[in-house]
Amino acid sequence: MKLWGGRFTKEENEAANEFNASIKFDKELYKQDIKGSIAHSKMLAKCNIISEDMQKKIQRGLEDIEADVSVNKIEFSMDKEDIHMNIESLLTERIGEGGKILHTARSRNDQVALDLKMYIREQFVEIKELLSAIMQTIFEVSEKHKNTLMPGYTHMQRAQPITFGFHMMAYFQMFKRDYKRMENAMDIMDEMPLGACALSGTSYETDRRFLAEELSFSGVTENSMDSVSDRDFAMEFLFVMSVIGIHLSRLSEELILWSSKEFDFIEIDDALATGSSIMPQKKNPDMAELIRGKCGRLNGNLIALLTVMKGLPLAYNKDLQEDKEPVFDSSDTIKKSISIMNMMMQTMRINEDKMHEACKTGFLNATDAADYLVKKGVPFRECHEIIGKIVLYCIKENKCMEEMKLEEYRSFSKVFAEDIYDEISMEKCVKRKNSEGGTGAAAMLIQLEKAKAFLESIN
Ligand code: ARG
Repeated sequence: MKLWGGRFTKEENEAANEFNASIKFDKELYKQDIKGSIAHSKMLAKCNIISEDMQKKIQRGLEDIEADVSVNKIEFSMDKEDIHMNIESLLTERIGEGGKILHTARSRNDQVALDLKMYIREQFVEIKELLSAIMQTIFEVSEKHKNTLMPGYTHMQRAQPITFGFHMMAYFQMFKRDYKRMENAMDIMDEMPLGACALSGTSYETDRRFLAEELSFSGVTENSMDSVSDRDFAMEFLFVMSVIGIHLSRLSEELILWSSKEFDFIEIDDALATGSSIMPQKKNPDMAELIRGKCGRLNGNLIALLTVMKGLPLAYNKDLQEDKEPVFDSSDTIKKSISIMNMMMQTMRINEDKMHEACKTGFLNATDAADYLVKKGVPFRECHEIIGKIVLYCIKENKCMEEMKLEEYRSFSKVFAEDIYDEISMEKCVKRKNSEGGTGAAAMLIQLEKAKAFLESIN
């Protein structure tokens, strides 16, 4: 018979039973469920709702179950529907009455909200660690390549010279914000929901603050209805996973482009690339492509839960059972993606010569040449036009600006003098960009110092 079978006259339809059951996937929550139940039993004993002896029995029983589950000794039953009722039934089988008493002053509604919240908090901790590791790698690559020239692009067209370290530090900033996003989310969700019971609280004299302390939350949820209905913490988790995924996918896209023959800026390590079943010469960036592709499921998981939540009346509805699989999948996906990306970043070979070579064509120093004229007193719009004409001339003559003779320059404007060559040297163009956050050596030094301080603050 079902744990809730009292008021029923028929066995549940088999297909309905299977459709209803969540044990296939929510067994992932067994540790959190047991932890929550042990805390609940302690609270019941503290409030004299059960005896100390009974509490000890319950705790021992639950700990034994946990040990057995962790070595795959337990076969969960679909008839018991979900992880909560499976564990409760196992406990009753093992210790008798205590198993039946445990559910006093709680409901599966607050139980499941607690379990998922604890699960997500733990995932955030793990993901923060992985992010901090990849930020460390990016920091090291940036430091090493703070003087490695490469073209910076807009519209995928060569725009201005930058350094590879500077380009990499842009990703550091994205991951730093993701890290902070996780801390914010953890802060907002730091309210313990257990004790809300089905929806309205309980008439037992319970102690929810004690529970919060046992389970390391700073406080308790303030409204029981909200406690069992809210899943915004899960939506936020999925949102943050999506954002991290999108950052990783942009980085992946660049690694894919840069490792193509057309760019040849980097080479992905053999151990992290794959071959073709037909073309012997191929070395494909599959890992980067997969990380890019994983955004599909990350965004899908977010949209799935957002859609489940939309228009759902208070309080608990079974729709909420759909909250778990997206969370499990996104967390698994992001952890693997960050780890693989970290390995790729650690092992990729940087082709400095090719990057430098690419700076020579594309008139990356055109803005600097215009600024040169500005410094000589020509209004910027006129400078823009003069340099535009020079670029057109160079394209026709098939040369770059560094190769133009002074008299050629002077045919466009009498303002040009010998110092133009110094002004448009790629190295100098980069070195001068020292506005806060710029690619210049001095500005980069500050970025690196701040990044280092951030890494120290989180490690
Ligand atoms: N398996 C359920 C879920 O995941 C647990 C809560 C069930 N509560 C209920 N009143 N049926 O949401």
